Amino acid sequence: MDDFSYKQGTLHCESVDLQTLARQFGTPLYVYSQQTIVDHYSRIAGAFASLAPKICYSVKSCSNLSILAVLKEVGACFDVVSGGELARALEVGVDPKRIVFAGVGKTDHEINAALEAGIGWFNVESEQELETLASLAAKRDTIAQVALRVNPDVDPQTHRHTTTGKRETKFGVDLQRAARVFEAFAKTPAINLAGVHVHIGSPVNHIEPYVESIKRTLDLVVQLRRRGLTISAMNIGGGYGAHYCGEEAPTAADYASHIVPLLQGENLEVMLEPGRSISANAGVLIAETIFKKSSGEKKFVIVDAAMTDLIRPALYDAFHFVWPITPARGMIPPRRSQDLQLEGTELVDVVGPVCETGDFLAKDRWLPPMARGDLICIYSAGAYGFSMSNQYNSRPRAAEVLVHGDKSKLIRRRETYEDLVALERGE
Ligand code: LLP
Repeated sequence: MDDFSYKQGTLHCESVDLQTLARQFGTPLYVYSQQTIVDHYSRIAGAFASLAPKICYSVKSCSNLSILAVLKEVGACFDVVSGGELARALEVGVDPKRIVFAGVGKTDHEINAALEAGIGWFNVESEQELETLASLAAKRDTIAQVALRVNPDVDPQTHRHTTTGKRETKFGVDLQRAARVFEAFAKTPAINLAGVHVHIGSPVNHIEPYVESIKRTLDLVVQLRRRGLTISAMNIGGGYGAHYCGEEAPTAADYASHIVPLLQGENLEVMLEPGRSISANAGVLIAETIFKKSSGEKKFVIVDAAMTDLIRPALYDAFHFVWPITPARGMIPPRRSQDLQLEGTELVDVVGPVCETGDFLAKDRWLPPMARGDLICIYSAGAYGFSMSNQYNSRPRAAEVLVHGDKSKLIRRRETYEDLVALERGE
């Protein structure tokens, strides 16, 4: 599942002791395992290999340059959703042809930047975007390669905020309309509308919604080809699950065993956009206990990480397993699960210092008694952790460290108070 484990009573990332890292770089601190990143990427690549797909890592899940560089090295392509993410991918020297650009609201500025770079595919989500892209590409005397994002109206059975495959969401073009859009834009100069894109949500721990959405999209492809249109590619999106509560996500092999047969022999270049399934279990957030307090029946462990560092619990009520980094004897967790209740633990909420009741990292958890200064690990924080972090309450963002074997490297320094105000000072 990942490369975080207890050795001689202390949590390690690969061979590096997390207590030492926390003392060296301070807290809150994000730590990533290179081994886990590569392992998860390789599992997906291996499971889908018979389709020879382009695996476009979803940059939004964890966008640190050093992590992008690791993935580039192992052969990943990249899925970006903004000019900023495009700039990050270009910064690490990714071949622009290996970049796909999604998003419902690309600005002219962003489209121009992507045309300028010469990216592989635009995943387009509306007729107006197609018109705009065509006119901007024509001005540059270039041809943009385009996949139309379709909305298959399939329920991915995940949180409503991260459901994208239902018709009432803002994403894609519904299948009936999509057929008309393909015909209407088939001959438009400066765009080559030759692909379909479908992404139903995230995380999707059920395989059936993928099967259903791919089948519906393939029906569209058949229909379009019958009408004489050339459809050469299908991007089947991302959203594959990660392990938060235990081992709840299907494996890459599970997903592939149902998805690959659907696409085999269809004469389509296949693209995938996994983010979380590569990065989530590869990262943890380390925090230090500042205070403990009680209020009525409730006990709180107040730590120095907050919703500003990891917003998922506040935003989606997401579960992240938490446990001390150097637990007392006999308190090494035998497994990570939602209902773990070891002898000697107490029921607490782990909360941050931010002035919002929604600022919690873990609620109603049986944890070993924590004292001031004790370090705690918030697991499965590699995806949508740092990348969604912010400076609310004027909290400088955390540092990030990448571990590889027995080596660790600071890959983003901690922000300073100077960083907080630098852009607001007059000339
Ligand atoms: N492709 C598209 C078009 C997407 O919108 C997304 C995620 C992905 C791929 C990658 O999904 P992944 O494989 O990482 O699940 N902040 C939320 C997740 C938002 C997902 C947004 N789109 C969270 O923390 O759960």
